[in-house]
Amino acid sequence: MHQDDAASPLLHDVPAPPHDGPAGTPAPGGGTGPGADARTAAFGWIDAAREQRRRAGLVRTLRPRPVESPLLDLASNDYLGLARHPEVTRGAAQAAHRWGAGATGSRLVSGSTELHARLEAELAEFCGFEAALVLSSGYAANLAAVTALGGPGGLIVSDAGNHASLIDGCRLARARTVVVPHAEPDAVRKSLDGHAGPALAVTDSVFSVDGDAAPLRSLADACRAHGAALLVDDAHGLGVLGDGGRGAVHAAGLAGDPDVVATATLSKSLGSQGGVVLGPARVIEHLVNTARTFIFDTGLAPAAAGGARTALRLLRREPERAAQVRAVAAELHQRLGAAGLTVVRPDAAVVSVRAPSPELAVRWAADCRDAGLVVGCFRPPSVPDGISRLRLTARADLSPRQAREAVRTVVRTAPAAC
Ligand SMILES: Cc1ncc(COP(=O)(O)O)c(C=O)c1O
Repeated sequence: MHQDDAASPLLHDVPAPPHDGPAGTPAPGGGTGPGADARTAAFGWIDAAREQRRRAGLVRTLRPRPVESPLLDLASNDYLGLARHPEVTRGAAQAAHRWGAGATGSRLVSGSTELHARLEAELAEFCGFEAALVLSSGYAANLAAVTALGGPGGLIVSDAGNHASLIDGCRLARARTVVVPHAEPDAVRKSLDGHAGPALAVTDSVFSVDGDAAPLRSLADACRAHGAALLVDDAHGLGVLGDGGRGAVHAAGLAGDPDVVATATLSKSLGSQGGVVLGPARVIEHLVNTARTFIFDTGLAPAAAGGARTALRLLRREPERAAQVRAVAAELHQRLGAAGLTVVRPDAAVVSVRAPSPELAVRWAADCRDAGLVVGCFRPPSVPDGISRLRLTARADLSPRQAREAVRTVVRTAPAAC
């Protein structure tokens, strides 16, 4: 059961798509006649949902991405510019040559390779945790951690601005979930008051929408006052925050603590693919035994593991990449703000610029693209407060000239209502 706090009836409870009348009963087998009509009717409700999206300016479409693009990309999550780094792609290719294109099955069934074990040991050591478990995506890692640690009789306290994967973890967990207003440790404290039994506070370290950081120390204090655990999704912190990019949890001095678990994706700063849960060894062992997205999912692909290991090695060798991406984000923020746009001060790599409406946000992003700049566009239902934004992601490999050019384009194409 998912209880939404009245102050934040947000993304944790997105309404189901509307159904437009009875869907009809699919006819068995082939042929025409009444059976064919019934088959067409089966997805008839989708047309109504699509029309509703169109009227609200919320249609999403896939655009082709060429191998080489002349556009300047400030939409990807390749924060450190490693996804196409020759060492990283070579690391991925070598791992695929040695271990195969796929992991061939769940690691509990097909066996766990030395490649996975090494990546886990290296991630745990780098981020300052006792143990780690890699999964096929950051999404799967969050589902694993939240569901395995939020069992029956437990309580999950979830920030209203959390990423969809944490929210889905709450939805799937057997624990009761309380959604608290964004970045308010006192609200977490209050929700934990009076609860007896296992409890888990869940938060992003850096929030995807506005790029603001969670008050991790205060959240940990709130949890500790109640004997609750803290789970932090450090997807946007790994490689960007903390000493040499060790992440927000490490920066907050919480890495390795017995009541703290972190998750991260290997798909942003590490330029690869996959996810990781970091924590005490007993938590990791519990996940191996109970986390459905680990047990019933094919293990992380060898190429992704090899790419992530190489990227991690590179980050150790070139720790200045982490500081560089933060400097680029600060510069983008300063220049966009000076031009009169409403920009949230970035705590990591995400720079969020407010747009007047979903329609204008889409047009703004399209105008940027026409002018040679790719930016992200966040609209409902991906934004908890209903405010649409352009989202620029800083990259360590962005030159000062490119940063200036990006700002000029965003400012020049801004809707008059900004
Ligand atoms: C905060 C956060 N958590 C989790 C994820 C999911 O990670 P992945 O893309 O590896 O599934 C993302 C990815 O967009 C994210 O931004």
